[in-house]
Amino acid sequence: MLIRIKKKSDVVSSEITSPSVYLNRRQLIAATGLAAGSMAFAGKGEPALQQGPGVNAKLENVKEGYSKLAQNDPMTSYEAAASYNNFYEFGTAKEDPVENAGNFKPKPWKVTVDGLCKLSGTFDLDEFLKPHQLEERIYRLRCVEAWSMVIPWIGISLADVVKRHEPSGDAKFIRFETIVRPEEMPGQRSRFILPWPYVEGLRMDEAMNPLSILAVGMYGETLPNQNGAPLRLMTPWKYGFKNVKSIVRISFVDKQPKNTWNEATPHEYGFYANVNPTVDHPRWSQAKERRIGDFLKRDTLMFNGYEEEVASLYAGMDLKKHY
Ligand code: MTE
Repeated sequence: MLIRIKKKSDVVSSEITSPSVYLNRRQLIAATGLAAGSMAFAGKGEPALQQGPGVNAKLENVKEGYSKLAQNDPMTSYEAAASYNNFYEFGTAKEDPVENAGNFKPKPWKVTVDGLCKLSGTFDLDEFLKPHQLEERIYRLRCVEAWSMVIPWIGISLADVVKRHEPSGDAKFIRFETIVRPEEMPGQRSRFILPWPYVEGLRMDEAMNPLSILAVGMYGETLPNQNGAPLRLMTPWKYGFKNVKSIVRISFVDKQPKNTWNEATPHEYGFYANVNPTVDHPRWSQAKERRIGDFLKRDTLMFNGYEEEVASLYAGMDLKKHY
């Protein structure tokens, strides 16, 4: 795990919550050549960034969205969010995705919507996104491995996507599937890492919750490959592994889908994966987390701090059993 001791200069950027201001600062740094200096300053083991701010396309017409939590919560640096990743299709170490995702082609991209719905088909990504408003959502991301970040995503409301594709009354869950391209994703050349494709699912009411988005960008730009370009799920009250990357298929189904980590190690990972400091992982405690960039650990909050928005979805459920 990457543990950086907070530098004095971090405090300034951490107080800025607007990505446009953040990006201006980044552009200033790039223009003055300070970026090279800060790279050289990076500690041993921190990978060199193959894609940095300003490299990916800037996203236009973005509405300011839900950012309540981030108001008192400093944002993680772009560098950390784009270089400390879990994306096993590119390898299992945190620096593997940024190092190995350079040849991945997120364009052109097609998304298939199928199953129990009226509007099914295979859509060009632009066509799929066009009816929807892009929104910025500054969310916490809490990994099941007990580290966390605060990232300004840009995406579309999943509830709006569901409504547009008109699922039938029998559709109780949504299943998401990551692309399979072993020639571009070296991790997929081994079946021993995980069963491919990576699959995740949500109950329909979870998908309809206003917090659920399909993200296409972060920090004002399209997603870097290592963060799940060009389309990924973001459900901030759940552990990070629910947020399936590089989605090619969205299916409306009647039964709870088998999700990849549950299939791989069922006694460790369930379907719901709600952030819960009172239910430990069999091998470590979930009571605390390390925010990337911080030195000291902080308490993990129930539903990652989104209790008000999502607790009612699980009323009456035994969350120790449905972990
Ligand atoms: N999606 C796919 N397809 N493959 C993966 O290995 N890892 C998950 C999730 N989505 C993963 C994935 C895990 S464990 C986490 S914590 C988040 O992506 C990390 O997202 P980030 O790298 O953008 O921070």
